[in-house]
Amino acid sequence: NNTTATAKKRMHEVCVLLENEIEYYNWVGFYFANHEQRTLHLETYVGEETDHTVIPFGKGICGQVAESNSNFVVPDVKAQDNYIACSITVKAEIVIPIFKDGKNIGQIDIDSNTPDPFTKEDERFLEWVCEQVAKIL
Ligand code: SME
Repeated sequence: NNTTATAKKRMHEVCVLLENEIEYYNWVGFYFANHEQRTLHLETYVGEETDHTVIPFGKGICGQVAESNSNFVVPDVKAQDNYIACSITVKAEIVIPIFKDGKNIGQIDIDSNTPDPFTKEDERFLEWVCEQVAKIL
């Protein structure tokens, strides 16, 4: 675990804010990488409870971002083969990596119950959010 209690609390506040203020953000969470184990670990989230608190690199949208180091915008989760379903209400997903000193250390993961809701503006905004989060880690 590479985050402090204060950082975790602040990240939780970010989750609360994003889920409250943006109506098509319905589940918001932060995963962090254990590079030795090649697993992602759910640090904090807001939304429906999930079984997927540990995700192997390569698995699901999150696991793919751990390896690609790139944003992954999924307009329709049903069209994805390598996808881990958390809730039947989820229609779309966006995952943005968090970089610290050039290293992909984790990600923000957002699920939407609205089909195809995410724009370039969401990507730019969430990249900015991830940059701010990286500063407190
Ligand atoms: N859907 C994700 C798994 C995490 S849940 O959305 C919280 C995925 O495919 O990686």
